[in-house]
Amino acid sequence: MPQEYRLILKHADEPGYTPDIDCYMRNGGYETLKKALSFQTKDLPDGKKQTPQEQIRQEVTTSGLRGRGGAGFSCGLKWSLVDRKSGKPIYMICNADESEPGTFKDRQIIHKDPHQLIEGMIVACFGNDVHLAYIYIRGEMPEGARILNRALAEARAKNFLGKNILGKGYDLEIHIHRGAGAYICGEETGLIESLEGKRAYPRIKPPYFPAILGLYMCPTIVNNVETLAAVKHIVQMGGAEYAKLGTPNNTGTRIVSVSGHVKKPGYFEVEVGKATLGELIFDEKFGGGLRDGRKLKAIIPGGSSAKVFKAGEKFKVKRKGPDGQLTPVEVDLLDLPYDFDSLQQAGSMSGSGAIIVMDDSTDIVAALANLSEFYAHESCGQCTPCREGSLWMSKALHRLTNGHGRKQDADYLIRIAQGIQGRTICAFGEACSWPVLSFINKFKDEFEARGARDEAKHSSSAGAGPSGEMRIAASPQH
Ligand SMILES: Cc1cc2nc3c(=O)[nH]c(=O)nc-3n(C[C@H](O)[C@H](O)[C@H](O)COP(=O)(O)O)c2cc1C
Ligand code: SF4
Repeated sequence: MPQEYRLILKHADEPGYTPDIDCYMRNGGYETLKKALSFQTKDLPDGKKQTPQEQIRQEVTTSGLRGRGGAGFSCGLKWSLVDRKSGKPIYMICNADESEPGTFKDRQIIHKDPHQLIEGMIVACFGNDVHLAYIYIRGEMPEGARILNRALAEARAKNFLGKNILGKGYDLEIHIHRGAGAYICGEETGLIESLEGKRAYPRIKPPYFPAILGLYMCPTIVNNVETLAAVKHIVQMGGAEYAKLGTPNNTGTRIVSVSGHVKKPGYFEVEVGKATLGELIFDEKFGGGLRDGRKLKAIIPGGSSAKVFKAGEKFKVKRKGPDGQLTPVEVDLLDLPYDFDSLQQAGSMSGSGAIIVMDDSTDIVAALANLSEFYAHESCGQCTPCREGSLWMSKALHRLTNGHGRKQDADYLIRIAQGIQGRTICAFGEACSWPVLSFINKFKDEFEARGARDEAKHSSSAGAGPSGEMRIAASPQH
C-alpha cells in the first residue's frame, strides 16, 4: 500500500515548525543555495567545459521534473528553450496564482515553508542567469503575499538575495506581485501581461513563447510554485537521485489535493505514479473513502478543466513488460496510477493535481452548470468562440437546471464546445469545453432526461395558456 512521501512538505505540518528563516535554517535551509553557488566549471570528457549554471540545468533535466502547474511540460526542456543569445535580460516568474478550481497545494508551501520556494527560486534563477524575478500571487491570498514578503526580507537580510549573494558575485532580486483574482492570470502569457500592468489578455503563441518573447518582450521562464520548490531538492540530492522517486517519465513527488465527497479531504504528497486514483480516494491514509452509504459517481482527476471520469470506466493504458516493450493493458478507473501519462492515456489529465470526487448524490447537470458558470465568468473575452461559447454553454446549462431544458440541449452543448476547442488564443478554450464534452459524453442520459422532462412538462401545460415562465435564450439564433 502506498504511503505519503513527504519531500516538499517534509516539515510543513510538523509541530513547532514555523515559516521564519531561523526555523528553516535550523532544518538545513539555504545549504542547497550555498552548494549551488560553489559549483565550479567542469571539464567534460569531450573536452568541453560546463559552467555552474549549465550543471544546474543539467541536474534538472536529469531529474525528469515535469511542471506541476498543469501541462506537465518537462522543466529541463523548458529551460533549454530560453533564448540565451538575444543579449536581453532573462526573467523568472513563479506562478503562484493557484486558480484552478479544486487545487490547494501551492498555498501549503507558501504558508508553511515559504523559504523552500524562495531557495528553489534563487537556485533556479542562478542556473538560468536571471537577476530579476517575480512571484505572481493570487489576489485572494493576501496572507500568502504577506508571508512571502516577510520571507523575502529575511532572505535579503542574510544576503541570500540582493547584491553579491554570499560573496559569490551573483545579484538577484525577487519581487511579489499580487494579482486581482482573475483565473486567466494563471495562464502564463495572461500573467505576463498582468505583471506588465495591463489587462490579462493571453498572448498568441507563436510568436509570444515566454522563453523567447516573455516579460517586457524578453526571454522569461514561468514555473509553478511546486515545480520551483522541487528544484531545491533536485540540486540538493542530485537529478539522478531525484529521478529514482516516482516512476519512469513521471519522476519525483507530487502534492495532490483531494476534495469533494470524501471523508478526509486534504493534500497528500506522494511519489508520482506510486499511488492509484482509487487509493488516493479510498485509502485511510488519503481521502478516507466516500461518505457512508454512498457510491462513487464521477471523478475529475486534475482540476476542473480535466475531463471527468465515470465510475466503473475501464481504459487501455500502455505498460512496460519485462522485455521493455510497451503493451496496452486494460485498467479499471480506480487502478489508474496517478501520474501524467496514465491519466492522459485514459483521456484526461492530472493537470494541477486536484482530484474532485462526486458520489451518487451529485446532480451531474447542476455540477456542470456550476463549472460552466465559472468559465463563462472568467473568459477574458478576446476570442469570439470562447467569449460567446462559454456564455451560451452556461446559459443552456442554467436553463437545464431551472426546469426549462430541451432534449436537444445535450447535442447543442456538444456543438458549442466543439466549436471552441482548438480555435482560441489560449488553452482556456479547452479548459471550458472539456468539462462540457466529457460530462455529456459520459452522462448523456441524465442531460437528455432532464431536457425531455422539461419539454414534457411545458407541452402538457401548453394548452393552459401562457405560463408566465421565461425561456432564457442561449443565443440569438438558438
Ligand atoms: C486558463 C489557465 C489557467 C492556469 N492557471 C495556472 C495556475 O493557477 N497556476 C499555475 O502554476 N499554472 C497555471 N496554468 C499553467 C501556466 O500557463 C503555465 O503552464 C505554468 O505556470 C507553467 O509552470 P510549470 O511548467 O512549472 O507547470 C494555467 C493555464 C491555463 C491555460
Ligand atoms: S481562449 Fe478565452 S480566455 Fe483565452 S484568450 Fe481567448 S477569450 Fe481569452
